[in-house]
Amino acid sequence: PSLQWYPGHMRKAERLVRENLKLVDVVIELLDARIPLSSANPVLREIVGDKPRVIVLNKADLADEAAMRVWVKCFAAQGITAVPVDAVKGRGVKELVQAIVQCAKPKTDKLVQHGAKARAARCMILGIPNVGKSSLINRLSGGSKTKVENRPGVTRAKQWIRIGTQLELLDMPGILWPKFEDRQTALHLAYTGAINDNVYDVASVVLLLLDTLRTKYPSDLKERYRLEGELSNGAELLAAIGRKRGCLRAGGRIDEEKAQQIVLTDFRSGRLGRVMLDSPPSISLIEDAR
Ligand code: G4P
Repeated sequence: PSLQWYPGHMRKAERLVRENLKLVDVVIELLDARIPLSSANPVLREIVGDKPRVIVLNKADLADEAAMRVWVKCFAAQGITAVPVDAVKGRGVKELVQAIVQCAKPKTDKLVQHGAKARAARCMILGIPNVGKSSLINRLSGGSKTKVENRPGVTRAKQWIRIGTQLELLDMPGILWPKFEDRQTALHLAYTGAINDNVYDVASVVLLLLDTLRTKYPSDLKERYRLEGELSNGAELLAAIGRKRGCLRAGGRIDEEKAQQIVLTDFRSGRLGRVMLDSPPSISLIEDAR
């Protein structure tokens, strides 16, 4: 889904999140595993406050595994559990459910100690557009949504999904906005498809993406497009890819737009290899994780 962000819209989305937060014990923050920094919301911590939080590194199938493990360690060092998940195939979902239940335990235990009946942990999903919120809700609910009866104080429209006996998920994810101000962040969001293609200049973004891939993942790029020798700059690379893929206009000129679309589609579907665009705080840790 494409969303346009402007102050009124953002404030409304934020207000909704704040309202729903009151209903849950744990927040599930979805990040794109390829860009754990760029896909974060700048004011999430302030909105969520002290509420316990579990991080999902979603689209883990598209992310560099060793680098992702370092990110998991970095979050752990801050006392936060981060779970790599592929919301489409369901990988990591079992581990995620365990992590959420664990995270909610202090709260649910306390309720029982204070004389309340034991109840399931309540949680909600938060994340920027396109990060996979709906996919994860579908996965967690196993396709068939078991609706929980309406609760007093909860408007009729709010539905809960029962997951096993220990968990209930609000069937309405909270949508937050990414950081747009910082150029690097905006590029990462564009590369991965978090920002709709019609709101930025695709031609220059693809050239920058190719430059990044040429530097960080040259062998995947060469293998995919059967390129040989030194990889030159983004523009020459795009032309070479266009030639290899037969993106030609009448007269033999390269059809650059077609080549750009090929690169974007290949990158986003993982055909150019698994990547990590936001380096974890300490690169040296990657070596330990391998
Ligand atoms: P949202 O609710 O947060 O906005 O995201 P949504 O679940 O709609 O997912 C956005 C796109 O990301 C979908 O692609 C979805 O299939 C894909 N996706 C979600 N989770 C994963 C994952 O773990 N791995 C991979 N590889 N893809 C994932 P789509 O339906 O093709 O949408 P689009 O390409 O038309 O934007």
